Amino acid sequence: MIELSKKRKPGPCSFVVFGVTGDLTHRLVIPALYNLAASDLLPEKFCVVGVARKGTSGDELREGLLKGLHQYKTRPVDDAIAKRLLECVTSIEADPSDPASFDAMAARLERLETNRSTGGNRLFYLATPPGAFAPIAKQLGRTGMLKEKDGAWRRLVIEKPFGTDLASAKTLNDELLKIADEHQIYRIDHYLGKETVQNILVLRFANGMFEPIWNRNHIDHVQITVDEKIGVGHRGSFYDSTGALRDMVPNHLFQLLSLAAMEPPAKFEAHAVRSAKAEVLAAIQTQSEAEALQNSVRGQYQAGEAAGVEIPDYRRTQDVKPGSTTETYAALKLTIDNWRWAGVPFYLRTGKALGAKRTEVAIKFKQAPFAMFRNTQVDRLSQNYLVIAVEPTEGITLQFNTKVPGPTIDIDGVEMKFRYKDYFRAEPTTGYETLIYDCMIGDNILFQRADSVEAGWQAVQPFLDAWKKAGANGLETYKAGSEGPRCADELLKRDGRSWRKFS
Ligand code: BG6
Repeated sequence: MIELSKKRKPGPCSFVVFGVTGDLTHRLVIPALYNLAASDLLPEKFCVVGVARKGTSGDELREGLLKGLHQYKTRPVDDAIAKRLLECVTSIEADPSDPASFDAMAARLERLETNRSTGGNRLFYLATPPGAFAPIAKQLGRTGMLKEKDGAWRRLVIEKPFGTDLASAKTLNDELLKIADEHQIYRIDHYLGKETVQNILVLRFANGMFEPIWNRNHIDHVQITVDEKIGVGHRGSFYDSTGALRDMVPNHLFQLLSLAAMEPPAKFEAHAVRSAKAEVLAAIQTQSEAEALQNSVRGQYQAGEAAGVEIPDYRRTQDVKPGSTTETYAALKLTIDNWRWAGVPFYLRTGKALGAKRTEVAIKFKQAPFAMFRNTQVDRLSQNYLVIAVEPTEGITLQFNTKVPGPTIDIDGVEMKFRYKDYFRAEPTTGYETLIYDCMIGDNILFQRADSVEAGWQAVQPFLDAWKKAGANGLETYKAGSEGPRCADELLKRDGRSWRKFS
């Protein structure tokens, strides 16, 4: 993880994309490769191999990718740069249900690599549905394409979901680890491509003033919010078998949680950072199913309007079962069993079709212990929050109390705000540039290790089990465009707390 502007070009490699005709490749992978090319951060000796199941000619593939680039670009497309990038693209046909096609692919890839002088370094990017991860990896393993030899590296990149529960995540990890070593596997969580998310580490550990108060002595609780305005849209079939908890919590929300709650790593390098993150996730208390029901709220949206867009009932969404009990909103109370966090609740919430898009980690400090000031009672003092905002504004806000100018001591809450855009000018990106670049240079600090994936599932498994058994019982509803189910307020209210209000 190095600031993009200070980066050097990666060494030679081929970038092999499975699922090259799919949405992920067009929407994110190719625009990110283009942005890297525009910043002169692609290897000098480089090729992109697009693997598609149905035969697609090289010309068709390049044409489709260029169209996608124009549709999903984050900056104006320079024709010369796009042309240079697309000239590197070759199409290969391979299907895991036809092992012979992988033998042919292995031979073709070797010839191509010799022509392009990529030194045998390969990055296999699986931009496919998750069911294809293990079958493709097996074929790559069987044909020796993933084997590191003669100083050449071979890496496998996969995207969430890494399993759908603890058991399936373990199975997937076991299958992949039979084929490749952990250091070859890059599990992407796109939240780690976000500058503000990476900055949590820097905020905490590159400043001396936060660490002494970053613990149960000074922090009352932590709130992690990932609210979305969009409904489920055309993803009904995927979403109805997934739900808000699986889709967002063990991955994206736990990335935020682990960065906010981890112990300081001994070094700023992948092993130390990833171990500290895995350790804190493993310290999340595993709840019984009864506790999980008590410490959670789930809801499903009903028709309404979010930001001027009419959203139909979740149950009337295309490919959603009419009587579905899948949650589109989840709020959880978790605790972390270690010295730093004992007794400090972590409240997490996420949902679709809400009033606003908002992603933030809010650290709530303990209140001043008594009311020194005659005119302001302690419970009327503004709350001391440190807010790490990821969306919609990227920045950090500190809320504190101050004296209102005038002859009497009146107190009011104010905010000190840092906004990224006020200090730094950065080209808009897809969020995948740093991740892809790091895969090419072999820095896996921003990628998930098998143990932290499993620790994440371990923590949410009781909620999955309890909700499955409860079915429609306890499933709340909320209007699209609202702040979510009312019961989510109760989850904090009964602890004498409340969710941070939107400002
Ligand atoms: C994806 C989920 O992983 O993250 C989507 O599958 C969700 O359902 C998306 O909308 C949210 O990402 P972001 O970056 O918009 O917060």
